[in-house]
Amino acid sequence: MYDFIKPLIFKLQPEMAHRLTIKALRSGLSPRCGSKNDSSLRTEICGLTFSNPIGLAAGFDKNAEALFGILGMGFGFAEMGTVTPNPQEGNPCPRIFRHVPTGSVINRMGFPNEGLGVFKDNLKKFRDKHPALKAPIGVNIGMNKDQTDPEKDYILLIQELGQYADYLTVNVSSPNTPGLRDLQNPAFLAPFLTNLMAEKDKLENKPPLLVKLAPDLSEEQISSISKVLLEVGIDGIILTNTTLDRPDSLPSTFAQEKGGLSGALLKAKSTEIIAQFYHDTQGRLPIIGIGGVSTADDVIEKMRAGASLVQLYTALVYHGPALPRQICQDLGAFLKEKNYKNISELVGEDHKNKETSSARA
Ligand SMILES: Cc1cc2nc3c(=O)[nH]c(=O)nc-3n(C[C@H](O)[C@H](O)[C@H](O)COP(=O)(O)O)c2cc1C
Repeated sequence: MYDFIKPLIFKLQPEMAHRLTIKALRSGLSPRCGSKNDSSLRTEICGLTFSNPIGLAAGFDKNAEALFGILGMGFGFAEMGTVTPNPQEGNPCPRIFRHVPTGSVINRMGFPNEGLGVFKDNLKKFRDKHPALKAPIGVNIGMNKDQTDPEKDYILLIQELGQYADYLTVNVSSPNTPGLRDLQNPAFLAPFLTNLMAEKDKLENKPPLLVKLAPDLSEEQISSISKVLLEVGIDGIILTNTTLDRPDSLPSTFAQEKGGLSGALLKAKSTEIIAQFYHDTQGRLPIIGIGGVSTADDVIEKMRAGASLVQLYTALVYHGPALPRQICQDLGAFLKEKNYKNISELVGEDHKNKETSSARA
């Protein structure tokens, strides 16, 4: 079905196509592909249960307006946002660009969203209307472009939205809000995250707090950030956001667009970053892996590198709404064929194999 309508969708400007997709998901026009998940895909992190490990990444539904349709695609969880306290328009259009031959996207959205009030209303309505839907919902929070004291915005969003979230994501890694990535600096990150953790601990539900990081970090930066995250006692890490890299395989007309690159060309880099964080945190912090995931093999690769769950966004643009269900089916078949009882046995396998082979040597 998606193969049939894809040429029409790809004739539209990417942002227009996205708006129509959200409308379709809201109105129930989208297909519901929700067959039951194999029990081998069921997994737990941070005290939350996931019927399968495939989640929708942040940025797709910035205002939490299409949750029911999104979960109907077969995702095991979904992350909404990035939401900022005040509504903002984001950067001028056009600001999303596809490169079909490499399955890539560049975006410089700059957090356009309707703000905290609308987001909260939408999420409350969804919770009231669908109490039986148990898939965890993450809330990804960010600061307004004109905020000079970032902590103020994050604290407010935790206070206002934390009670409706199964987990919160502190986004300090989008490349399109000036100064945002500077928050990853370990000297800033330590007191900042300590204060945010204290704030969420004041909430009755105490949702797990995760931090989402960029792939454009050096080994030294990863090592010092890992130390900070362990000290602060963060609940988990989301790796990674889009990259500023422009691989040589991209044509210059596309590569020169400003913004973050996502999709197939981010895959290897984000997996490497996951592996380094898993190593540097000794596997003690749950990792949600993202970047170029479009097949069961990609999921397996990310999990073996250290991810407990994965998310995707760009692959949905290229492969359509049946993708999450297809990946789950393929994962179930893989686990059965290789005699794994549960998907969680894959997590960090690369590292264990390395240890065994160095012990043998
Ligand atoms: C159009 C677009 C908008 C995005 N907006 C956000 C956002 O608001 N917040 C965020 O944390 N990540 C955002 N992302 C990044 C994705 O969540 C994800 O980290 C990245 O795209 C890599 O995954 P992928 O290769 O599966 O797309 C956005 C990505 C795209 C393509």
